[in-house]
Amino acid sequence: MADKRKVALVTGASGGIGTAIALRLAREGVFVIATSRDVARCRALCDEIEAAGGASVALALDVGKADSIRSLAARLGDCGAEGPVSWLVNNAGVALSAPLLAPESEALSTHHMQVNFHGPRRLIEVLAPEMVAAGYGRIVNIASSAGLRGYAYVAAYCASKHALVGYSRAAALELGPKGVFVNLVAPHYVDTPMTAEAITRLMEKTGRSEEQARRFFEEQNPGGRLVTVYEVADAVWELCAGEDNGCVVSLDGS
Ligand SMILES: NC(=O)c1ccc[n+]([C@@H]2O[C@H](COP(=O)([O-])OP(=O)(O)OC[C@H]3O[C@@H](n4cnc5c(N)ncnc54)[C@H](OP(=O)(O)O)[C@@H]3O)[C@@H](O)[C@H]2O)c1
Repeated sequence: MADKRKVALVTGASGGIGTAIALRLAREGVFVIATSRDVARCRALCDEIEAAGGASVALALDVGKADSIRSLAARLGDCGAEGPVSWLVNNAGVALSAPLLAPESEALSTHHMQVNFHGPRRLIEVLAPEMVAAGYGRIVNIASSAGLRGYAYVAAYCASKHALVGYSRAAALELGPKGVFVNLVAPHYVDTPMTAEAITRLMEKTGRSEEQARRFFEEQNPGGRLVTVYEVADAVWELCAGEDNGCVVSLDGS
């Protein structure tokens, strides 16, 4: 049975890791505000949550656009939740590849920074003041192993995730003493549509078979397999429910 006063906002809930996180939190009785650009897919997710006895609402949000974040904030008051957002999961992200010196580098860098860094930052700036006022909040930012090391051909992605890691560590120091804990989950390659696209791109560029391309990504992970969305969702749940602050939970397929 959902408690409408326990409210989590999840970005990028329409697919992959975000869907798994939304389902996991809803299963724990949390009211989930499921957001993404594709509100129809978020509504389908909410139907699934409600069929399982949970409670949720779907709201449109493009985290790459400041006005979309402002408009979402204005709609939170009458979205069906009976309390303020006390848990924020910044999951939405993009990962596009290109050689470092390609002509599209300017546009790619701007796009990755808008979605992967400024989106989470702006959401924190909009939602954390109420958490601080309440003396309680949990923020989990989904970074990546690419926020802690480099990978070739995804410099813009790596830069945006490094920015998110640095910002989150600083935010933990500032907000933690006020009861708002900020943590990161940094998965290596996860079995999601984002990785499926990377597999397809590798097949196109190198002529490898699907099996060979998938194996390539599995072997990039220290544990030799793709991380599952359920492992990421479990880590998010533990950080939301727990008392850690300023942690980076690395998931590497071990
Ligand atoms: N897959 C991996 O191997 C992996 C590894 C480490 C970290 N991560 C991180 O995990 C997060 C989720 O990745 P995933 O693999 O689940 O990706 P995915 O399957 O491609 O899903 C991405 C999600 O982000 C949303 N999104 C993209 N751009 C958005 C925008 N401008 N505004 C709002 N939502 C947006 C998409 O929703 P809409 O299209 O409906 O807007 C979708 O729900 C990302 O931050 C990613 O960097 C992934």
